[in-house]
Amino acid sequence: MQTLRNTELDALQAAWPQHMQRAIQLAASVFSAAPNPRVGCVIVGGNAEAGDSVLGEGWHQGAGLPHAEPVAIANAIRLAAGSTAFVTLEPCCHTGRTGPCSSALIEAGVSRVVIASKDPNPKVSGGGIAALEAAGVEVFFLQDFEDGARRLNRGFFSRLERRRPFVRCKLAMSLDGRTALANGESKWITGAEARSDVQRLRAECDAIVTGIETVLADDPAMTLRQAELGLNAQQLVWNELRLSNPPLRVVLDSRGRLSETAKIVTEPGRCIAYRLDGANSSVEASSPIAVRLAPNSGESVSRVSLLSVLESLAELDECNEVLVEAGATLSGSFIEAGLVDELIVYIAPKLLGSDGRPLLGMSGLNELSDAIEFKVESLEQVGADIKVTLRPR
Ligand SMILES: NC(=O)c1ccc[n+]([C@@H]2O[C@H](COP(=O)([O-])OP(=O)(O)OC[C@H]3O[C@@H](n4cnc5c(N)ncnc54)[C@H](OP(=O)(O)O)[C@@H]3O)[C@@H](O)[C@H]2O)c1
Repeated sequence: MQTLRNTELDALQAAWPQHMQRAIQLAASVFSAAPNPRVGCVIVGGNAEAGDSVLGEGWHQGAGLPHAEPVAIANAIRLAAGSTAFVTLEPCCHTGRTGPCSSALIEAGVSRVVIASKDPNPKVSGGGIAALEAAGVEVFFLQDFEDGARRLNRGFFSRLERRRPFVRCKLAMSLDGRTALANGESKWITGAEARSDVQRLRAECDAIVTGIETVLADDPAMTLRQAELGLNAQQLVWNELRLSNPPLRVVLDSRGRLSETAKIVTEPGRCIAYRLDGANSSVEASSPIAVRLAPNSGESVSRVSLLSVLESLAELDECNEVLVEAGATLSGSFIEAGLVDELIVYIAPKLLGSDGRPLLGMSGLNELSDAIEFKVESLEQVGADIKVTLRPR
């Protein structure tokens, strides 16, 4: 396999970045393909020079459905021998729910395969590249697209490389950093557009994690509401699989206080409650609550270990991405434990005053040097509110 940077491409390869960019765009047609990665593929005639025509395009819509490469091959108007396939992820070489994509590309007579990321799945991990090369197909790795390709599948990479999902934590606050009035009233700080944006965050995740206090205070449903996603007819078809398999709802409930009648339990879809191992763990067999036991986090207050919960969601449910939608206590614990990979804060242009509740329950920071620092990734206006996307430094 030859690794190339964009600046190293020759005149015949000048259109390659444009084709790979298109493949990334195709992969992003679905919110999620979990537990599989989102993958896009563009097949171009000949050496994929500028002017060479695109023969076929495809992307993977989710587990059990064909992978991006066979979709692009099936969509191709004709498949000239000597064509080039641009794939955002190394083609697979194993037979899972579908056949190996490396074989499909070889049989289709593709001469060149250009990839933007290598597959971390131990069943592939270079095997797809080796199979293609063994069949005489040239393989190129376009290194400048690796970040974009990994970003598409940051949850998939996190689950396979770190054995835990990518964690996004979402919070909403007033301009003065308050999440509710002193009496707890908080509906709604942000506007309808921000709330519909949160629906998109839910559509991208495989599990929504909340704390028992939020459930007791608000009785939220934590469901995916299709009508608020603002999708057109085509996007609805593409995302059919995700919409019919909404994210798992997870309640962290160390002491077993979750009621069987809570909306988070009774709404259609799966709900799992994590309780502290050894705590009030007797659950009637007929209970609609699926209980899992987790070890103690080992801190002064006995609570379930967040790392164990994440590892269990990755292992037992193949969760790639988790969205934490909790109050100040649990969100603060996730941040303090260094388990938040992305923080999204919606800021409403309102002042709730100093009696209001703070954004995060974190204490014990005495020196400025102890401050937990973030880097702003993006800033955008969503309706009347501001959305800030941050990464831990
Ligand atoms: N502004 C926002 O974006 C937003 C979002 C969601 C909720 N809220 C508001 O937040 C309020 C509730 O906030 P809250 O801080 O009281 O509750 P919370 O963060 O939702 O839940 C906290 C509870 O989670 C449980 N938990 C289990 N394991 C934990 C761990 N390792 N670390 C921390 N907590 C753990 C604990 O109860 P056990 O020890 O019993 O397990 C803890 O008391 C509600 O009024 C809701 O409206 C605001």
